[in-house]
Amino acid sequence: MTTTLDGRVAMVTGAGRGIGAAIAARLAAAGASVAVCDLDEATASATAAALPTTSAGIRMDVSSSAEVAAGVARIGDLLGPVSILVNNAGFDIIEPFMDSTEETWDRLWEVNLKGQIICCKAVLEAHMIPRKDGRIVNIGSDAGRVGSTGEAVYSATKGGVIAFTKTLAREMARNQITANCVCPGPTDTPLLAQFGEDKTTGLRGSLAKAIPLRREAQPDDIAAVVAFLCSDDAAYMTGQTVSVSGGLTMS
Ligand SMILES: NC(=O)c1ccc[n+]([C@@H]2O[C@H](COP(=O)([O-])OP(=O)(O)OC[C@H]3O[C@@H](n4cnc5c(N)ncnc54)[C@H](O)[C@@H]3O)[C@@H](O)[C@H]2O)c1
Repeated sequence: MTTTLDGRVAMVTGAGRGIGAAIAARLAAAGASVAVCDLDEATASATAAALPTTSAGIRMDVSSSAEVAAGVARIGDLLGPVSILVNNAGFDIIEPFMDSTEETWDRLWEVNLKGQIICCKAVLEAHMIPRKDGRIVNIGSDAGRVGSTGEAVYSATKGGVIAFTKTLAREMARNQITANCVCPGPTDTPLLAQFGEDKTTGLRGSLAKAIPLRREAQPDDIAAVVAFLCSDDAAYMTGQTVSVSGGLTMS
């Protein structure tokens, strides 16, 4: 496999911890310089400092067009033009739909879907389209493909991510820019810890038993597939939705 990303600059959002931090580590291990972007400046800086390549921690709220524009300009100055964008920042509140509030719906849409749209527009405009080069990987969720009890509006935002990625892929193909969507299944991160700390009992235990490969994903299981989609080996893949779920969902 041709995995070298030497000389590439990657921007990964929500990369201070969890799946995003694993993606940053994978891309850096393959040679890319990584802009580790996160709402939490401390974790962004700590993750960036641990990477083996020239990288930078950038405080950024993906739901703010102004912060994203400023961040993308800073990344250009510090690391060079971005040719890989991984839209990973997201959050979830697990509760019955009938208990959820409009305030939660608004924040879910602003971060999980609009945040990806804002980052795509900014990076495409500033770096990818002018250079006719780019790889975009948007992190969706199997909740957006098959639904998930307690995650109604979250599922809607992730379904939106899947649909947005497909149209983006069609429009950007003429610029030699690919866009794909990776849908993790249950993955062992602080976000999943909302289901309970114990991975073998309760809801998390039942979930693991329902997965054909009989375990939750580790963040690096997701990062490996993202890194492949950013590599030259995936040059002819675009507009695809790839589930990484231990077989929990099959298309
Ligand atoms: N963990 C799972 O089981 C799972 C399953 C399917 C999909 N996902 C998706 O994977 C992605 C990463 O999830 P995770 O489990 O690593 O979550 P996590 O909560 O462990 O990490 C998310 C990171 O995103 C950052 N973030 C949140 N809002 C932000 C914002 N507005 N701007 C910038 N950064 C922000 C947080 O500070 C945090 O560092 C999310 O998009 C999530 O929806 C996760």
